Amino acid sequence: MSPTFYHILHVLALLALYGGTFYAFAAPAETRKGTLMLTGIASLVMLISGFGLMHKLGLAWTGWVFVKIVCWLGLSALGGIGYKRRGAVGALKATAFGLAAVALVMVYTKPF
Ligand code: HEM
Repeated sequence: MSPTFYHILHVLALLALYGGTFYAFAAPAETRKGTLMLTGIASLVMLISGFGLMHKLGLAWTGWVFVKIVCWLGLSALGGIGYKRRGAVGALKATAFGLAAVALVMVYTKPF
């Protein structure tokens, strides 16, 4: 499989995870199972395609990868938290935005 395939898979999974997470913040409680299934699968695909990209592009395990993994962990947990903490939607939205921003800065600048 080409690196382009993994790039597309990675960004597609990111869109699904991000969209599902924001939906979780406002969706009715009965949608919980389906939404968390979607975000769970998207999260897994993101991780696998991330590792696939590292392998295909011959990238080393440097600092930015670990920062991205922390952002990924946080983003993956937010949907489930969103269903439980209805009063914290503002903070959860800001966290989702912040985690994505940090991960994007890491991948496009690779500072360490
Ligand atoms: C919140 C989490 C994450 C976000 C927002 C994110 C986002 C992105 C984006 C936008 C790209 C660039 C795609 C392109 O230019 O076509 C990318 C590439 C990449 N991501 Fe992620 N990603 C995340 C998590 C991860 C994780 C957990 C890993 C590692 C297991 C990973 C590994 C990579 C690698 C290796 C690349 C390719 C870098 C390159 O082309 O030089 N990402 N990511």
